[in-house]
Amino acid sequence: MSESDDDDIPTLSAHTLAALQEFYNETRTSPDTAQASSDQFAVGAVEEDWRMSQFWYSDETAVQLAEELVREAGESGRIACISAPSVYQKLKQGVVEGSGRVTSVVFEYDRRFSIYGDDFVYYDYNDPCCLPANVSPQSFDIVLADPPYLSEECLSKVAQTIKYLSKGKMLLCTGAIMEKLATELLDVKMCSFLPKHNRNLSNEFRCFVNYTSHLLSC
Ligand SMILES: C[S@@+](CC[C@H](N)C(=O)[O-])C[C@H]1O[C@@H](n2cnc3c(N)ncnc32)[C@H](O)[C@@H]1O
Repeated sequence: MSESDDDDIPTLSAHTLAALQEFYNETRTSPDTAQASSDQFAVGAVEEDWRMSQFWYSDETAVQLAEELVREAGESGRIACISAPSVYQKLKQGVVEGSGRVTSVVFEYDRRFSIYGDDFVYYDYNDPCCLPANVSPQSFDIVLADPPYLSEECLSKVAQTIKYLSKGKMLLCTGAIMEKLATELLDVKMCSFLPKHNRNLSNEFRCFVNYTSHLLSC
């Protein structure tokens, strides 16, 4: 490039650059940031990845399940969401009454959910009891789980984790074809409540509980 070409490049003074930087910083920390911090808990904030068997609940179902967990966890209750990140997100979004009074933890294989900091616990059902030392046995008032696969091996292993974490109440979401095994493993009953997903699943999908729940008959 010739000297004359260089002269044609517009330059900004240090003062103008500083003013521009200040403007940029201000616009970055005002409305955009507020939007981002509330949206990070929206269902779909982390996109579905079918390679990890990810099928998110509809917003309505995620709210209904979150409401059930808050109701059943009780005052200052502790809630574990195993492989069900959209219910965790709904609990944190500030749209479910009472959700501010409970503690919610998401047990997930997909490390993208580590954006939720200390609420995220890495979990692989293949090692059902391989959990961090600070996760104590029977430390959750209610445990919700949605195993990634409709197989005996997967449900049996996730059931071990559910039993390890739960003080008693369990809410399992899985295919209706798993009913017999779920009952054998966890002594749960199938609910008439029909959970829905953002995309249609080819298999019939259900919820199962081991306590007296209004989901049994609604
Ligand atoms: C069928 S989806 C359930 C998601 C639920 N419907 C929701 O909306 O939150 C299964 C979940 O299991 C997780 N998953 C995939 N592989 C896993 C593994 N090896 N161990 C534990 N969880 C796994 C996926 O990331 C996904 O969140």
